[in-house]
Amino acid sequence: MNKKQQRFGDLQVLTGNANPALAGAIAESAGVSLTECMVGRFMDGEVEVRLDDDVRGNDVFVVQPTCPPVNENLMELFLILDTLRRASAARITAVMPYFGYARKDRKDEGRVPISAKVVANMIVAAGADRVLALELHAAQIQGFFDIPVDHLFAAPIFVEHFLGKDLDNPVIVAPDVGGIKVARAYAKRFDAGLAIVDKRRVSPREAKAMHLIGEVEGRDVLLMDDMISTAGTMCEAVSLLKMNGCRRVFLAATHGVFAGPATERLRAAEAEEISVTDSIPLPEGAEGLVNVLGAGPLLGEAILRIHSSESISSLFVD
Ligand code: R5P
Repeated sequence: MNKKQQRFGDLQVLTGNANPALAGAIAESAGVSLTECMVGRFMDGEVEVRLDDDVRGNDVFVVQPTCPPVNENLMELFLILDTLRRASAARITAVMPYFGYARKDRKDEGRVPISAKVVANMIVAAGADRVLALELHAAQIQGFFDIPVDHLFAAPIFVEHFLGKDLDNPVIVAPDVGGIKVARAYAKRFDAGLAIVDKRRVSPREAKAMHLIGEVEGRDVLLMDDMISTAGTMCEAVSLLKMNGCRRVFLAATHGVFAGPATERLRAAEAEEISVTDSIPLPEGAEGLVNVLGAGPLLGEAILRIHSSESISSLFVD
């Protein structure tokens, strides 16, 4: 063990109820067992936390994506962080494979909150010393935290998956302008073309794909987004791509939120395959529809490197 590690003691990983399967995979990949922590509910529905292991002087990572039920999962996270701080953990890292409330990251109309900033403030106030996040909706959310944030991209997971797909003359498509940077990075990686959908959001449930910028005729398409929520964005884009004569369409998103009509819409879409990571547990009804790729090894490796104060930049693919 080097001197830097000794400052924070042993590595421990624990979780609330948001995604215990992923937390188990992360712990396994980091070579530790999950630290015992009971996260339940009192009779009136309030969150109850009791740590059953000692964490004093240790380097503790709390795995808790704030996916639906988002407020329940957030409250669990706050109370776990507070428990760890009061139990004298040396360093506490909130591992957020999915960061909920991220889309409200600016005041884009009058009299609305910047929810992502409020959530960031509350995570810090509750006791986090660092954050490890996977594919934030916007990279600048890192700046909402006045503590170090390690921001991973899911690219290593998707690149490995799609390199085995034998894509024919592929084009990487961004489903809206916000996705161009990520799509360009994938296009470079696959030596593929690049196209962009001009999307307008009609309402929180409805997106309209207006125009396609780029050439897809007769080519395989990889349509990439950070998340599928109601699936309006993806399904509108698939229709537009098909209208423009593309061959097969593969959908990939880091976070499968699958809210409201998402599964129904995706079943009707003309997609060859839909892939997400396991940052969020699959909701009922999505089994068999979606291909789930494990993010545990990537996050586990990042945790090991943070613990031993090594750089995590080689985990990025650009
Ligand atoms: C938007 O900026 C995001 O990158 C996603 O495109 C969007 O959140 C997906 O939402 P939905 O699935 O509801 O269209």
